[in-house]
Amino acid sequence: MENIKSYVQQHKDRFINELIELLKIPSVSADTAYSQDVIDTAEAVKESLSKAGCDYVETCDTPGYPIIYGEKIIDPNLPTVLVYGHYDVQPPDPLELWTSPPFEPVIKTTDIHPEGAIFARGACDDKGQMYMHVKALELMVQSNTLPCNVKFMIEGEEEVGSASLAWFVERNQEKLKNDVILISDTGMISNQQPSITTGLRGLSYVEVEVTGPNRDLHSGLYGGAVANPINILAKMIASLHDENNHITIPGFYDKVEELSAEERAEMAKAPFSLEKYKNALNIEDVYGEKGYVTNERNSIRPTLDVNGIWGGYTGEGAKTVIASKAFAKISMRLVPNQEWEEITELFTKHFTSLAPAGVTVKVTPHHGGQGYVTPIDSIGYQAANKAYTETFGVPAIPVRSGGSIPIVALFEKELKSKTILMGFGLDSDAIHSPNEHFGIFNYLKGIETIPLFYKYFVELSK
Ligand code: BES
Ligand code: MN
Ligand code: MN
Repeated sequence: MENIKSYVQQHKDRFINELIELLKIPSVSADTAYSQDVIDTAEAVKESLSKAGCDYVETCDTPGYPIIYGEKIIDPNLPTVLVYGHYDVQPPDPLELWTSPPFEPVIKTTDIHPEGAIFARGACDDKGQMYMHVKALELMVQSNTLPCNVKFMIEGEEEVGSASLAWFVERNQEKLKNDVILISDTGMISNQQPSITTGLRGLSYVEVEVTGPNRDLHSGLYGGAVANPINILAKMIASLHDENNHITIPGFYDKVEELSAEERAEMAKAPFSLEKYKNALNIEDVYGEKGYVTNERNSIRPTLDVNGIWGGYTGEGAKTVIASKAFAKISMRLVPNQEWEEITELFTKHFTSLAPAGVTVKVTPHHGGQGYVTPIDSIGYQAANKAYTETFGVPAIPVRSGGSIPIVALFEKELKSKTILMGFGLDSDAIHSPNEHFGIFNYLKGIETIPLFYKYFVELSK
């Protein structure tokens, strides 16, 4: 532990500078304008893995962006840790809300990060968290303390649904064989209170299109006499929740796993201040499903949210028009046992049935994925908990997260191994948002904690 700490102290400036270089490449997977940058980032990750000590690295071509694979096999009889992460990032917009440009990383202090945080798109999600693993490998190789085999699989399409990764995993089961999968792409409660993510929500993401008249119409000549697709879409969306904020799609809750009173009581023990939560978001009150508290609403309960809605005239001034079409993007966060394909079908059937005569509705599924829960009695969980306990001085709390990493359920299905989610980000780090950042404390703590996971995982596997 002392050796780990001193290595990190000695090399921290370089660790930070290397991450800053990686953050300068705008690897936005959703926007093809950035495709060369995404590919360049893959190459930078590959190079960093060989420098850190992988004996073998490979750029694996896929139908989409490449997957970087790396490994260091010290003894086939020892356990193997498979590290997964992603080098792609979310689009940076709205650009005008950033206090410094998204791909020109700078270190600034905040109330929560008095020792500084790196501000850049991808700082926390996931370049910074992924790179902690590269530097942890360097540390273990340089100090001759790598206790087992390690494989890396870093992809470039996580933010757009991981289609190529699913393709890759199905075709490379032997290559990816492992005893545990380790991911840092989630968060923790606070810098004083570590937590281990034991659950992720699934996702069904759809786009809807409502079409009325065959052309845009003068809203005076036709207003009141024909269905306005935007009015209709708003009405249809509004009807998807009832007065208790339950989702009204028939069958939507059929497979939802209900937690026992004991489990809910256990969840309620995690430190949480509703006042601080509201203050941080500048809202007067929270809002959500009746019968559940905030920490339940955003983790163990499914949701339906409009992510974007458009149609008609949105330019300057006023234009009196009834648009021919209206659109929305809708995501449903799912919980264990809900099948995302089935939910997509239930949504489509119900949403289509809501349309009155005079409009037609088209639903296009985008992508989806299954939720995930992992038990806390596994060797992997115990090893992670021991590692956090040592570096933070307090044990980690198990927490179910509201976010999604759909590929985790697929790992379990295809590779038959458990995933341990050792996240070091904070909810306030603004991932997917302007001014995303990652605390220097969190970055360095991650690099310190990861080698201890390896150590305890190998010890407990004996
Ligand atoms: N790293 C996030 C997921 C996450 C963040 C989980 C924080 C738990 C805590 C990941 O990059 C992400 O953004 N996932 C997407 C899903 C994907 C299919 C686009 C999400 O959750 O919206
Ligand atoms: Mn991520
Ligand atoms: Mn993300």
